[in-house]
Amino acid sequence: MKIHILVGTMTGTAQLCAQEMELALDDGDTQVETLLMDDLDGSVFEREGVFLICTSTYGQGDVPDNARKLYEDLGAKRPDLSKVRYGVFGLGDRTYAETFNFGGKKFDDLLAGLGAKRVGERHKHDASSGVLPEETALEWSKEWLALL
Ligand SMILES: Cc1cc2nc3c(=O)[nH]c(=O)nc-3n(C[C@H](O)[C@H](O)[C@H](O)COP(=O)(O)O)c2cc1C
Repeated sequence: MKIHILVGTMTGTAQLCAQEMELALDDGDTQVETLLMDDLDGSVFEREGVFLICTSTYGQGDVPDNARKLYEDLGAKRPDLSKVRYGVFGLGDRTYAETFNFGGKKFDDLLAGLGAKRVGERHKHDASSGVLPEETALEWSKEWLALL
């Protein structure tokens, strides 16, 4: 099985989480590729395998700058993603009460609207919780793999 981890990040925390998840999941049988969203467009979902969206939230509940091109391309072209399965590991901060974890939520809503099927619950990491995101990511990704 192939897993593509797509990373939306402003200051690198989501990338660190993705690296931990890649280490946890890539075991030979399961092959993991981690891609920063920077240069991606909707065609990335034509790749064979399962997708893991790992993204933080910025501005007023926006996706990070490096995720904007992918997010807007999907919204404009609206490809049929009914064959796609995905998970969401979102990062945010509860002090932004109105828009907590909206980066992950925006991708989740968009992908579901294009017909893709989410596996497992959307994880919502809270930077104010004191829980290290990369440790949570490692544990969460193992549970997610078991659901696949
Ligand atoms: C300027 C700024 C705006 C933010 N806006 C939100 C927000 O609207 N909602 C939210 O849940 N978190 C928000 N956050 C928190 C980040 O998503 C959180 O700190 C995350 O762990 C950063 O991950 P990254 O380093 O991968 O970008 C904001 C952080 C900053 C610095």
